[in-house]
Amino acid sequence: MGNQVMPREQLGICAEGNLHSVYLMFNAIEGVEEQLRPSIANVAQYIYELTDQYADSAFNGFVGIGANFWDTFYPQARPVLLKPFPAMNEGNRDAPAMEYDIFVHIRCDRYDILHLVANEVNQMFEDLVELVDEERGFRFMDSRDLTGFVDGTENPKGRHRQQVALVGNEDPEFTSGSYVHVQKYKHNLSKWHRLPLKKQEDIYGRTKVDDIEYESEDKPLTSHTKRVNLKDDQGNSLEILRQSMPFGSVKEQGLVFISVCRTPEHFEKMLRSMVHGDVHGNHDHLMLFTKALTGSSFFVPSLDFLTQFDD
Ligand code: HEM
Repeated sequence: MGNQVMPREQLGICAEGNLHSVYLMFNAIEGVEEQLRPSIANVAQYIYELTDQYADSAFNGFVGIGANFWDTFYPQARPVLLKPFPAMNEGNRDAPAMEYDIFVHIRCDRYDILHLVANEVNQMFEDLVELVDEERGFRFMDSRDLTGFVDGTENPKGRHRQQVALVGNEDPEFTSGSYVHVQKYKHNLSKWHRLPLKKQEDIYGRTKVDDIEYESEDKPLTSHTKRVNLKDDQGNSLEILRQSMPFGSVKEQGLVFISVCRTPEHFEKMLRSMVHGDVHGNHDHLMLFTKALTGSSFFVPSLDFLTQFDD
């Protein structure tokens, strides 16, 4: 057991935050799986190598395979817990599903490098895929969401990021992979900015300027951090690693929310708690100010899993 070599994870899963990101969502052209498998392997390998080459700019990234595309991509076996995005809706709180076949996530502290790599990746796929969505994320102020609150403070730190984000021995063929959920949220910032500071802080359960957590008893049951801070039956915290970044333009802006985790269940439970609330119907009031436009589920296999198809 001690000498076992772990498959190499794709490095963007657990990487620390960056200044810029590019998100490319592709759908595969029907019937090209044979050619696409090595192509995906090459893209993942290329991203892995660039992480060394552009280490000074903290380049990193990963390639994910859509839940609905997995069986076409690799019919031999499926990550045990992989399933489509858990779409849900209650009142005017909507978490719709919008699935894609392939997700390429690249991040860097240099925008020019990202732009070049995004084009290169697109070319490497040749005409085997169609690019169906593209967004570019950016760091806002000191890692704040566009609502002005620091985002990511309570994320797992150090080596704990790997423990939260990567599949272990529980699913041996998929060790070092990760379950990834992506939701593009469009904010209603004019509505948000009309809200007094204290009301904004109550919605997160944290202070705005100093980013200090409220005492547990002071957090409204409808606050975001109350709704997503969940425990299992043994009292252990359910954790995810968030790799979200603000995106957009004046016309449409918000957060590309990204959860990476060794299980998809934590994200699903948190989202359920935000949308449906607790037994008394206390749902997440953050959702009054932002709207999920998409919801996609991917598995990001280890680099070694993908490169077995390299030709
Ligand atoms: C915490 C923003 C969606 C899970 C936070 C914090 C902010 C934030 C500002 C507090 C600071 C921090 O610990 O990072 C947002 C925004 C969202 C969004 C703007 C959408 C527009 C989600 C979703 C989930 C989620 C969809 C999961 C389904 C979490 C978790 C925490 C957190 C687990 C840490 C809670 C804690 O331990 O205190 N979020 N979030 N968030 N968020 Fe979100």
